[in-house]
Amino acid sequence: MTALRKRLMAGNWKMYKTAKDARVFVDELKNLLGNVESLGSVAPEAAICAPFTVLYALRDELPQLGVGLGAQNMHEAAEGAFTGEISASMLQDAGCQYVIIGHSERRAYFAETDEAVAKKTVVALESSLVPIVCVGESLQERENGQTDTVIEKQMRVVLDALASFAAEKGESEKVKDLVIAYEPIWAIGTGKSSSAQDAQQVIGLIRRFIADRLGQDVAQAVRVLYGGSVKPDNIAVYLAQEDIDGALVGGASLQPASYVELLRKSV
Ligand code: PGA
Repeated sequence: MTALRKRLMAGNWKMYKTAKDARVFVDELKNLLGNVESLGSVAPEAAICAPFTVLYALRDELPQLGVGLGAQNMHEAAEGAFTGEISASMLQDAGCQYVIIGHSERRAYFAETDEAVAKKTVVALESSLVPIVCVGESLQERENGQTDTVIEKQMRVVLDALASFAAEKGESEKVKDLVIAYEPIWAIGTGKSSSAQDAQQVIGLIRRFIADRLGQDVAQAVRVLYGGSVKPDNIAVYLAQEDIDGALVGGASLQPASYVELLRKSV
């Protein structure tokens, strides 16, 4: 089946860049590319997921270039005594359209569980933010042949929550906004990217899990990205795979030149 999904090239700036750095990035992006629309009718959707402190500096500038704005985490509660946390409505207030949820660094260093990831995903969709939900196996899990079971478990908790959301709140259309990012942990920031065939194998499986739980219609609409050492010189092999709809990019999204090259190679 030929997919009608629009490609998404999402940058994850992690804990890099001050507001001044972000403005420099935007100026260079403008010089190098102008607007993403200049890439034509098959231009990918572009987004930058920036640190909280930088969101306001980007909220007007990035959309003018056709690039969406995202955050890298949020709390599932609407508001409350959660020192240091940020809610979905605060992200919207700061101009966000996207939010990364359950990145492996948050799971590893901030004890984020599958259950928390599931709750945040539903709240993001309820708030009309596009959740970019990350799943992925460790090197040890891959070497032990546990990749499929690890991904199945991470996906199951999120899909169960989404199935309830779709059924109880009648939100089956909204669920199609979900984005999944398959990021093998051993490939993040290491320069060791997964082979395109291995990435396709896992991402094809992810799409089957979605189809089993939420139906074929939803599975064909949801975008699934690959992430882990994506660079301008390897993006094409991932995009050539049937089920890979774009990338979540860390290191290579920090420099305007490489981010622009990734966008150009995604048309
Ligand atoms: P990387 O990071 O592109 O630097 O490997 C990807 C990510 O963590 O989302």
